[in-house]
Amino acid sequence: MATILANDGIDAAGKKILEAANVKVVTEKVMQENLSEALKNFDGILVRSATQVRKENIDAVPNLKLIGRAGVGMDNIDVKYAEQKGVKVINTPAASSQSVAELVFAHLFTMARYLHDSNRAMSLCETKEQFNALKKKYSEGIELSGKTLGIIGAGMIGKAVAKMAVGLGMNVMFHDAFINDVKFDLSFHPNISSQKIPLAFQCVPLEKLLTESDFITLHIPFPKGTAPVIAAKEFDKMKKGAGIVNTARAGVVSENDLIAALNSGKVSYAALDVFEGEPLVNKDIRSHAKISLSPHIGGSTREGQERIGIELAEKVVSFFRDLK
Ligand SMILES: NC(=O)c1ccc[n+]([C@@H]2O[C@H](COP(=O)([O-])OP(=O)(O)OC[C@H]3O[C@@H](n4cnc5c(N)ncnc54)[C@H](O)[C@@H]3O)[C@@H](O)[C@H]2O)c1
Repeated sequence: MATILANDGIDAAGKKILEAANVKVVTEKVMQENLSEALKNFDGILVRSATQVRKENIDAVPNLKLIGRAGVGMDNIDVKYAEQKGVKVINTPAASSQSVAELVFAHLFTMARYLHDSNRAMSLCETKEQFNALKKKYSEGIELSGKTLGIIGAGMIGKAVAKMAVGLGMNVMFHDAFINDVKFDLSFHPNISSQKIPLAFQCVPLEKLLTESDFITLHIPFPKGTAPVIAAKEFDKMKKGAGIVNTARAGVVSENDLIAALNSGKVSYAALDVFEGEPLVNKDIRSHAKISLSPHIGGSTREGQERIGIELAEKVVSFFRDLK
């Protein structure tokens, strides 16, 4: 049917679907500098975030029909250019939401009980005195229940986060640049319950969300050339002692202004999964006692990767089937 280069790998479940439909899948990694030459032997390419598919690659391979991104963000693909050249670009927008939302809560629980810092400190704890000192230091944590979670971006991940927040007894507030009313079902895993409870929220202005939230989490894209949504002016408006989580894209929160807000005590804690200098992380960020860190793993769970692989494979198969 077609030959595909899955240059950043593909989940076994997705590979199985492709091969069952006679799509030949090659998973041997081609280095970025050799990509244009290697692609001449393929009908399509599947990438995660590592491989870049740029104008020069697209120009070099006139027969390329499909570019697939396993995941959501398409920053590593020149999407508009590809589409102008008649190359179909697909991604898997729904597959990562649950995994990212769960990581948000991993960070929220961590921040609320200082686990990021106490994990580091406990590794050096050898005496009774040290243990007691740490016990005292980390005994001022808070519960999430009853607190207000401000969600910026009422898309798929924002809604998945809201479901968990509601389940935990948090107040939820949404802000979205393009949506006023947010409606979805409070449904959980189908094996646990098929019950659907309708939820509805009216989005609030950013200013209200900033001033009233105990924790803020961002779930928005960061188009090239745009300014951070959260910088010094926005930190100034936040509640003293608030916490902020960025699992969206580096740049939506200014790292410099975040450090200033943490050091001044305006913000009590932060959690980051994405970084301005990624894959390198600024030393002031990675060594900050008030920041919980993860290395861009929001969508990277076994279940998430399997869902991504299946969704992508099904889209690839249907694309080449329709092309016939
Ligand atoms: N950390 C990870 O590994 C990981 C994994 C998956 C997705 N993501 C990122 O999470 C983000 C959200 O993903 P999603 O699937 O929920 O996207 P989505 O498209 O479903 O929702 C995004 C929402 O943000 C709103 N929006 C856009 N710009 C805005 C702005 N400036 N202010 C307020 N609202 C704005 C849109 O109207 C939309 O409702 C994306 O940036 C994506 O790249 C990260």
